[in-house]
Amino acid sequence: MPRRRTDHHAGELERFGVSMDEELLRAFDQQIAQAGYQNRSEAIRDLVRDYLVEQQAQHPDAPVVGTVTLMYDHHARLLEDRLTELQHEHHDVIRCSTHVHLDAHNCVEVVVLAGPAERVRHIADSLIAMRGVKHGKLVVTSAAAR
Ligand code: NI
Repeated sequence: MPRRRTDHHAGELERFGVSMDEELLRAFDQQIAQAGYQNRSEAIRDLVRDYLVEQQAQHPDAPVVGTVTLMYDHHARLLEDRLTELQHEHHDVIRCSTHVHLDAHNCVEVVVLAGPAERVRHIADSLIAMRGVKHGKLVVTSAAAR
């Protein structure tokens, strides 16, 4: 009986060959050396994990963890009240938030969310789109990465 993929135990290593354009490979080697990778295998594993997480997060119900980083001026009228209100509204998905008074004007807020991909994205969009938020970014990860 042929050996199926599911017969493999997690952690078992499998080798495979990759054909690649010389120039492309050189550029890749240069970049991963700069990033601090010791070898191609580790860099390729990270790329594959990133791809898997990204693909899995496309499914609306996929369980993901997201961090939203927000930069805003704390003088913006009512913004802090609205931010707090929205976080209470979604308390079942929002796990925690950290606030940093960066300088005389600017605040950074990092919000950690865990839940279905679609809700995490929707809440993040609402936070980022708030009037007074200068810049915001959502980073999504998941246990799909092995
Ligand atoms: Ni502040």
